[in-house]
Amino acid sequence: MKTIPRIAVFASGSGSNAQRIAEYFAGKGLLKITAVYCNNSGAYVLERAKLLGIPSVVFNRNDFYNSSFVLDDLKSREIDWIVLAGFLWLIPDPILKAYPQKIINIHPALLPAYGGKGMFGMKVHESVIAAGEKQSGITIHHVNELYDEGDIIFQATCKVHTGDTPEMLAAKIHELEYEYFPVVIEKLVCEID
Ligand code: GRF
Repeated sequence: MKTIPRIAVFASGSGSNAQRIAEYFAGKGLLKITAVYCNNSGAYVLERAKLLGIPSVVFNRNDFYNSSFVLDDLKSREIDWIVLAGFLWLIPDPILKAYPQKIINIHPALLPAYGGKGMFGMKVHESVIAAGEKQSGITIHHVNELYDEGDIIFQATCKVHTGDTPEMLAAKIHELEYEYFPVVIEKLVCEID
């Protein structure tokens, strides 16, 4: 009998998307959020994982880039897909090679604009507003060796109104993320696996 796909969520900070994804799939039997991987031992996502009863794995830069610690752990948990939800480091080559087309990321803007190194967190929303954009949105994309450059899977937009602050835009973007990220994951994982 085929077992359900096993998903690892990587996050570096608050982890509200990680929580939303875990809650969306809880009890559905479609896929399993098997573990949360985090590069920051003080990140709130670890608290959320604990409350959700999901195991977490914390690693540092050396573990990630100079050892097989994370890849070995992914293999030992039989992870099928990796979802980056607010994860800030580039994925090293051995992990990319082990998961071809099975690592996805969410970016809080309409790529290819407002992406790349340094474009994360409030910086993205500040830049969108400073440029006078009338719309922004979210991009879900495959992950490759460059920041925010993998093939785009899905985008959704929201309006940017005159007077919107970066915080207001961030809140709108989060709503889009909560609405669409789980359903895009469901479609992708359940269609392919
Ligand atoms: C999200 O806006 C996501 O698009 C970006 O980082 C943010 C993470 O937020 N990559 P949270 O930690 O899920 O609340």
